[in-house]
Amino acid sequence: MIERSNQESIEKLKGVILAGGLGSRLEPLTRIINKHLLPIWNKPMICYPLMTLVEAGIKDIMIVTGGNNAGDFLKLLGNGKEFGLKHLYYTYQKEEKGIADALSYAEDFAKDSRIVVILGDNIIEEPIKKYIKRFLKQPKGARILIKKVDNPQRFGVLQLKGKKIISIEEKPKKPKSNYIVTGIYMYDKDVFDIIKNLKPSRRNELEITDVNNVYLNNGLLEYDILDGFWTDCGTFESLLRANNLIADKYYKKR
Ligand code: G1P
Repeated sequence: MIERSNQESIEKLKGVILAGGLGSRLEPLTRIINKHLLPIWNKPMICYPLMTLVEAGIKDIMIVTGGNNAGDFLKLLGNGKEFGLKHLYYTYQKEEKGIADALSYAEDFAKDSRIVVILGDNIIEEPIKKYIKRFLKQPKGARILIKKVDNPQRFGVLQLKGKKIISIEEKPKKPKSNYIVTGIYMYDKDVFDIIKNLKPSRRNELEITDVNNVYLNNGLLEYDILDGFWTDCGTFESLLRANNLIADKYYKKR
């Protein structure tokens, strides 16, 4: 009975996959193919975050694309039937203005629902349903999934005091810990107003880290440490790592 009522609540959440950007760190691979459509083992990259949301029980999903060859997402995914969805929703980010800007395009889709956001290049091993259930128990605010890594400088890095988050810094030269924020975020409806009040960063983008810091400063940011492997695919090294991790997982299962 408890499982059933949680499941019903998860269905009310909306999922957003952010798949914009030019993927310039992967040039020339991304010159004619959108980064999120590059192969990861036996599927295009975008299929993995999509499966992550579907497996978690989310039924309404929007893909925010952008950059080059955006029409190819439609050709690949259509209305999402292959993934067990009735519809799949799409929107297009006009300019490369950052992750938080990309998320703002999902405001009408989300209406007043809470949302689970995943970056289109984040590849993970384990289901995320248990974290979403914890988010549903929060009366409001946001929840992030964090991970310990060897190269934190490339990510949003946590400063921790014991188990408490003190701050999050985007791509710091001197990281204050090895814990980073993965590209999986859960937000209440306030996220869209927070984005409207953001100022562009030094790289002229609206940073998702700034969104998370607003929740943190309001005492409304919770976190879990993500189980299993996690990687993004933004560089040649991480793209190769993602391929190897998924291939290993595939062979282990057989
Ligand atoms: C983005 C975020 C960063 C986060 C990372 C996870 O980085 O800005 O905070 O740790 O995704 O994949 P970017 O992909 O822009 O390098």
